Amino acid sequence: MSQPGEIVYFEGDFVPSDRARVPISTHAFNYGTGCFEGIRAYWSPRRQELNVIRLREHAERLLRSAKILHLEPPEQLDAARVEAIILELLARNDYHEDVYIRPILYKSGTTIKVTLAGIDSDLCIFTQPFGDYLDIRKGLRVMISAWRRIDDNSIPSRAKPTGAYLNAALASDEARARGFDEAIMLTADGHVSEASSSNLFLVLDGVLVTPQATDDVLVGITRDCVMELARERGWPLEVRRVDRSELLSADEAFLSGTGVQIAPVTMVDGRTVGDGEMGPITSELQRAYLDVVRAEVDDRPEWRTPVGVPEAAAPARRS
Ligand SMILES: Cc1ncc(COP(=O)(O)O)c(C=O)c1O
Repeated sequence: MSQPGEIVYFEGDFVPSDRARVPISTHAFNYGTGCFEGIRAYWSPRRQELNVIRLREHAERLLRSAKILHLEPPEQLDAARVEAIILELLARNDYHEDVYIRPILYKSGTTIKVTLAGIDSDLCIFTQPFGDYLDIRKGLRVMISAWRRIDDNSIPSRAKPTGAYLNAALASDEARARGFDEAIMLTADGHVSEASSSNLFLVLDGVLVTPQATDDVLVGITRDCVMELARERGWPLEVRRVDRSELLSADEAFLSGTGVQIAPVTMVDGRTVGDGEMGPITSELQRAYLDVVRAEVDDRPEWRTPVGVPEAAAPARRS
């Protein structure tokens, strides 16, 4: 039996991770020409089952990013095929714990040329055990970054291009170097966009508010989960342009993302959010989200795709 994460998907095959190597001349390595997804699967002790969260939506977003970036994979890859590969990969690795899944569509050609069209692309996927990325019971202290969020007219912000994460890394390093937990980035014209790798929600006078997609946010799948949970509760929700001063005066604030899950923000640029503790709306959304993804409740089965028992987990084919 393989070690968790030992089997990866590379060049159309399931192989041991030490066989997944690319030449240093790979286009994606030189120019950041790839796009990726971050997906989670949660182990449910109650059901003895591993569930991948919103798998279809992640597969579709990967293919949408690929289309924007001219990343045509070699095989006929549709969302159903991406899903099937991920499910088989998880089964082969035989996880009994929470997992992070990282599919990357990348320019695998070795041509020295700054272009997207006409360069070969390929899909690779690795997985790894993954618990809480940060302590989500504790409030985060965030700062408004001096780095602006990439503008959709510079690098498509709706895609998840690998190279664009330099922008996120610069902002998040700046925040940590200054003693904060995370950075909130503004758009080029100074409106609130999102955190380095998660979306932002505020509660303002009882209304849940999140920046509109056209303010250079990555349209997050967890953001969509939050909005569904809010609508289900009949809570007022506004998706709109958000001013910096609204962020500085919110009653509650939280981040949403596959990695951070739902993480309360309790301080922005040295100003306490609300009373400095996780607020009631954040707390209810966090509880409801985790209950569904961890399959503690049977609601919203459409968010979870169970990984089959690993009878498909034959040893990796070797070429
Ligand atoms: C820049 C950015 N914004 C937002 C998100 C949150 O998106 P999702 O909820 O789909 O993980 C992510 C994470 O993927 C991200 O990288």
